[in-house]
Amino acid sequence: MRAVVHDRYGPPDVLRLEEVAQPVPRDHEVLVRVHATTVNRTDTGLRSGTPFAARFVSGLRRPRRRILGTEFAGEVAGAGAAVTEFQIGDRVFGLNPWRFGAHAECVCVPESAPIAHKPDEITFDEAAAIYDGALLAQMNLRRAGLRSGQRVLIYGASGSIGTAAVQLTAAVGAHITAVCNTRNLGVVKGLGADEVIDYTEQDFTDNGHAYDIVFDAVGKHSFKRCRGSLRPGGVYIGTDGLRNVLMALAPVHVSGLSTVMVIPPRYSRKDAVLIKELIEAGRYRAVIDRSYPLEDVIEATRYVETEQKTGNVVLRVIE
Ligand SMILES: NC(=O)c1ccc[n+]([C@@H]2O[C@H](COP(=O)([O-])OP(=O)(O)OC[C@H]3O[C@@H](n4cnc5c(N)ncnc54)[C@H](OP(=O)(O)O)[C@@H]3O)[C@@H](O)[C@H]2O)c1
Repeated sequence: MRAVVHDRYGPPDVLRLEEVAQPVPRDHEVLVRVHATTVNRTDTGLRSGTPFAARFVSGLRRPRRRILGTEFAGEVAGAGAAVTEFQIGDRVFGLNPWRFGAHAECVCVPESAPIAHKPDEITFDEAAAIYDGALLAQMNLRRAGLRSGQRVLIYGASGSIGTAAVQLTAAVGAHITAVCNTRNLGVVKGLGADEVIDYTEQDFTDNGHAYDIVFDAVGKHSFKRCRGSLRPGGVYIGTDGLRNVLMALAPVHVSGLSTVMVIPPRYSRKDAVLIKELIEAGRYRAVIDRSYPLEDVIEATRYVETEQKTGNVVLRVIE
C-alpha cells in the first residue's frame, strides 16, 4: 500500500511516499481503508521532534512511528476475531492518537479507540477533520466544569481546537466570546460565538469583562496574563506552551481561580460517540481550510506549520 513515511526528525522534506506492507489487524483491531486523513499539529510536532522532551516518548534518536496521521475516515476492510461493533464495509471515522499510521491507504485501529460510524450527512473529508480538535476541546472543557449559562472566552478560536471549542461551548448553552484575527471573525461567529474580538485591535485582558472560563486554544496565552479576566471561581484552560505544560503538571489554585490542561490527553470512545451525535443533530461540523492529495503531504505540512490554518487541513488518500 502507499504510505507517507519518515525515518528521521526534521523539516517537512523528511516525509516521502513509499510502498509499504499493509498492516494486519490483531484480534481487537479494525483495518480501515483510509479515504481521508489530516495533517495536524500533533503530526507536525512528532515529525519535527519538538519539543525535545517529547522524544523520550516518540523515540530518542529517531521516530518510532514511521507513518504519521492520527485522524482518519474510511471503510472497514478487515476486523480481528474479537471485534464486535464494526463490520467489513462500515463507514467509520476516528482518531488513532498514540499509534498514528493514518497517512496511508490502510490503518489498523483498536476497537477501543475513539472511532464511530460516519454519519451519512458528512463526506469523508469532513469526517476526517473532526476528532483531533473536538476531543481535545471536549476533555478540557469538561475538566473545567463547563455548564449552561457560563461566560466563556475562547482565545485562538480559529484553530482546530478553537473551532471545536466554540461549537461544543455553544452546544451546552454557554455565552461565548471568541478571540481571533480579523479574517476569521465571520467563521467563528458562524460557529456560534455570541461576541467576537479581533485580537489585532483589542486586548481582551484590558476590556473590563470577566469570564467563568478562559480557554487558550492555541497555547499562546498564560494564566498570569488572563487571571484579571476571570470571575471568582474561574478556570483557565491551556493547550500548549511551556508555562501551560508546567501548570498542567502542577495545577494552580489561587484566590479561588484554577487552571486546567489535560495531559496526557484522555481520549475516549464515549466522547467520540457524543460528538458524532452532535453532528447528526446538526450542531457540530468540520471546519476545513484546505484539502490536498496524499502526494502533496509536504506542501500540506508546510501550510500547517505556518500556524495560521483555519480549522483543519485534509489529506485525500482516495481522490
Ligand atoms: N494539549 C494537547 O494534547 C495538544 C494536542 C494537539 C495540539 N496541541 C497544541 O494546541 C495548540 C492548538 O492546536 P490547533 O491544532 O488547534 O492549532 P492550529 O489549528 O494550528 O491553530 C491555528 C490558528 O491559530 C490562530 N493563531 C495563531 N497565533 C495566534 C495568536 N497569537 N493568537 C490567537 N490566535 C492565533 C491562527 O489564526 P491567526 O493567525 O489568523 O490568528 C490559526 O487560525 C497548538 O499549540 C498545538 O501544538 C495540544
